Amino acid sequence: MEILHLFQALGLGLGVFLLFMVWRVLCAFWIWPNKAYQKLRRNGFGGPNPSFPLGNIRDMTKKNSTTNPASPSSSSNITHDIHSTVFPYFAKWQKSHGKVFIYWLGTEPFLYIAEPEFLKKMSAGVMGKSWGKPRVLKNDREPMFGNGLVMVEGEEWVRHRHVITPAFSPSNLKAMSSLMVESTTNMLDRWNALINSGSTEIDVEREITSTAGEIIAKTSFGISYENGRIVLEKLRAMQVTLFQSNRFVGVPFSKYMNPRKTLEAKKLGKDIDALLELIITARRKSVEQVPQKDLLGLLMADEGMTLTTRELVDECKTFFFGGHETTALALTWTLLLLAAHPEWQDQLREEIKEVVGNGEINPTMFAGLKKMGWVMNEVLRLYSPAPNMYRQAKEDIQVDDFIIPKGTNMWIDIVGMHHDRALWGEDVNEFKPERFKDDLYGGCKHKMGFLPFGFGGRMCIGRNLSMMEYRIVLTLILTRFSFSPAPGYCHSPSILLSLRPLHGLPLIFQPL
Ligand code: HEM
Repeated sequence: MEILHLFQALGLGLGVFLLFMVWRVLCAFWIWPNKAYQKLRRNGFGGPNPSFPLGNIRDMTKKNSTTNPASPSSSSNITHDIHSTVFPYFAKWQKSHGKVFIYWLGTEPFLYIAEPEFLKKMSAGVMGKSWGKPRVLKNDREPMFGNGLVMVEGEEWVRHRHVITPAFSPSNLKAMSSLMVESTTNMLDRWNALINSGSTEIDVEREITSTAGEIIAKTSFGISYENGRIVLEKLRAMQVTLFQSNRFVGVPFSKYMNPRKTLEAKKLGKDIDALLELIITARRKSVEQVPQKDLLGLLMADEGMTLTTRELVDECKTFFFGGHETTALALTWTLLLLAAHPEWQDQLREEIKEVVGNGEINPTMFAGLKKMGWVMNEVLRLYSPAPNMYRQAKEDIQVDDFIIPKGTNMWIDIVGMHHDRALWGEDVNEFKPERFKDDLYGGCKHKMGFLPFGFGGRMCIGRNLSMMEYRIVLTLILTRFSFSPAPGYCHSPSILLSLRPLHGLPLIFQPL
């Protein structure tokens, strides 16, 4: 009899527990997001209708019928009108709902913003430390960034930013320039050997991404010894694995949809952390020796404010993921645009001859490479490697008559603003570096309409490093080679976290 009672009590307990779990799941995935959504609606924000549990993901993953990735492009038909190619769903929704609206990633509502004036008013009273990052994206990208600077929030962000900023000072960056010259020269020697053996076609995207990975690893934690090299290989493998597994961000239990990939990414993440910890511990033990001049060495040398080993590991990963692909893609798209515009190759070569001459590259000369600066800006405008930014409101934010409620996720469309005819004029989709000649904003009608490196306190911390690397790599390439698009090049800009050429970038090279 007593056993029966025990079973009844256990059954009841289990029932209550299951009901509680169902309630928790319902709250987390439906009731709370829906409340936030209704609040946004009441505030006047419209948007496409979501469905449970995918939200608007089905529309977002539909193939775009206007693109034809199979067809090769000649340089004359490379179109830079890419917003509707890379974000077809946003371009479509903009037509019905304007430049600020709500859409859903799974059960997470996001406020979409492609309106600089709205962005200006929204961010006017919010300091860097008061911005959050959407929880759902933090979870998804945890193996890449952990709690590094891209993701960390509040007072912790202030502390990290404070410790890290001096490492990117001009004098520290200057000391890294020889590493960049060395890796690039190795790459170009390889190209020379290939060309001499008869293959003049080179996939520039693959080559430059790999060299930029090597450069960022050297400048972040040094890869001159075995552990560093293995970390670099594993970081690359993790990136590929994550691309293949995170297509349903925001959908409940999505990480269980591709468990093999999720586990693989987790395992790689653990291996990378362990290797970086070994590097850091070894450095801590060798404090007597000369401190190394890479970013890790500089962060560890700061005696006042320090980061823990765990924090240093996350920052090294953040530099790698935040820094190498963005810079590599800025260079890759530049090479495409210069290949399609040989007159700009000539102009830049002329400028390099005047400013750098035939001597060694010295970063102090770079201020003189003005036209190269215009070209970089124009490429970052047309093919922004960071295509979007995201935020979460930590408090209610008032914008005119609207209130963005605390907890709202936001998605800022950089590509959309950089291709907005209303902001740039009729020639918005033309490659015209001279628009930056006398104007830092390239003639954009709104100062928040050109944001390749972000805005406010959370502006990119690596922008000077990346500008230096861009100038070094481009100068070395232009002085050794001329190039044109390969006949088989297929122009398919696509988003895989960054904005990249889906089928790589084959170019034909001639040594000068
Ligand atoms: C062309 C190259 C680059 C582009 C286009 C770029 C773009 C951006 C953008 C748009 C943001 C703002 C993100 C946001 O507000 O959500 C950002 C932040 C950041 N970037 Fe870059 N970046 C580049 C190079 C680099 C490099 C070389 C590094 C490091 C070595 C780096 C590290 C970071 C970090 C750590 C943040 C977060 C800053 C913070 O939140 O305080 N980036 N970047």
